[in-house]
Amino acid sequence: MTDALQPRFRRLLVTGGAGFIGSCFVRDLLARRDGSRVSVLDKLTYAGNRANLAPVEADPEQASRFRFVVGDIADPAVVAPLVAESDAVVNFAAESHVDRSILDPEAFLRTDVLGVHVLLEACRAERERVRAGDRAAAPRFLQVSTDEVYGSVATGASREDDRLEPRSPYSSAKAAGELLVHSYFVTYGLDAVVTRGSNTYGPYHHPEKLIPLFITNAMDDQPLPLYGDGLQRRDWLYVADHAGAIGHVLEHGVAGETYNVSGGNERTNREVVTALLARLGKPWSLVRTVEDRPGHDRRYAMDGSKLSALGWTNTMTFEEGLAATVDWFRDNQNWWRAIKSGEWDDYYRRQYGARLAGSREAT
Ligand code: NAD
Ligand code: DAU
Repeated sequence: MTDALQPRFRRLLVTGGAGFIGSCFVRDLLARRDGSRVSVLDKLTYAGNRANLAPVEADPEQASRFRFVVGDIADPAVVAPLVAESDAVVNFAAESHVDRSILDPEAFLRTDVLGVHVLLEACRAERERVRAGDRAAAPRFLQVSTDEVYGSVATGASREDDRLEPRSPYSSAKAAGELLVHSYFVTYGLDAVVTRGSNTYGPYHHPEKLIPLFITNAMDDQPLPLYGDGLQRRDWLYVADHAGAIGHVLEHGVAGETYNVSGGNERTNREVVTALLARLGKPWSLVRTVEDRPGHDRRYAMDGSKLSALGWTNTMTFEEGLAATVDWFRDNQNWWRAIKSGEWDDYYRRQYGARLAGSREAT
């Protein structure tokens, strides 16, 4: 984030701030000690974790500028007063895991579509208050979206005005959410911006996702379930770079515009797994070929030049970021072992039980 001493927005509402990327955004923002205040609204679903914000709550100065509210972005009664006292709303809240969207799509529609609608309505009400002279400016709204809205990209790199072709319940719900945001910019003049981020990785990443799942399974010498041929390609973005880019777009983005946040680190899943096993000193023989994800997008890649032109560049290479991530998981076993218990066991059985039973050694 930039302009550390002169934040454009002093009172932020960060929804989904107890999740992976949202908590990084909050930790990094408050650590700037620039006087800005943050309210986190989070439903604390299976993916939300107050421990992700422990560094903030343990620091008296940061804690004095921080408030945590447990609640649902799809609940207007909770949302309206929080939006009313905010200069900006940054919406990270979402159901975020593609595999869970294939098992149970409904929660994705409620949060990723209806939840966005409720937040937008609250911002629209603030615009009315501005018109009535009750406040000076309506809040800026930033929607955190994803490269998955472009669908699978065989060649080249997606640009912001490319057609959206989402292919999973998750990416379709995310696309619907950001289209709603755009409609509120066009129809009601809401000050809104959208970011589309690449596959993000780093500390505090929920262990349901590829990199943390494979790191933590490998640490316990458990099988690593690689979908299909493992030659799917993703573009990897370090979490602090993603959070920083979101802060940059919040401060400098042009209303109504969408910005790709590309990692510039395209790798096959096999390359990623090889690299993390090398860092851990664990053998490839842990990897099992399992039945593929239905509708599995083969490749994501985005052109990041629009955000570069706005003045943002990533700082972390994939090699450094992956090493830091592996080391963090090695040093923070209490954090992930607590998550890989309880509800986790049912999910793991549902997602991987039959897959692992029918798996074969990965060549
Ligand atoms: P996450 O699953 O780790 O965190 C989501 C957070 O939202 C959790 O704290 C959860 O409790 C909260 N939440 C869920 N439903 C809610 C509701 N109805 N009301 C309030 N809070 C709710 O997700 P993440 O990986 O940190 O992703 C954050 C955002 O970034 C999401 O919008 C996601 O679509 C987007 N994104 C993620 C990636 C990635 O690779 N992780 C990449 C691009 C974009
Ligand atoms: O691209 C951005 C998206 O990245 C975000 O919008 C999503 O919120 C985030 O979850 C992520 O989606 P992916 O589906 O790409 O991430 P995931 O970690 O689930 O999978 C990464 C790749 O690894 C994908 O090709 C599927 C594969 N995979 C994943 C898991 C969990 C496996 O081979 N085995 C697994 O067990």
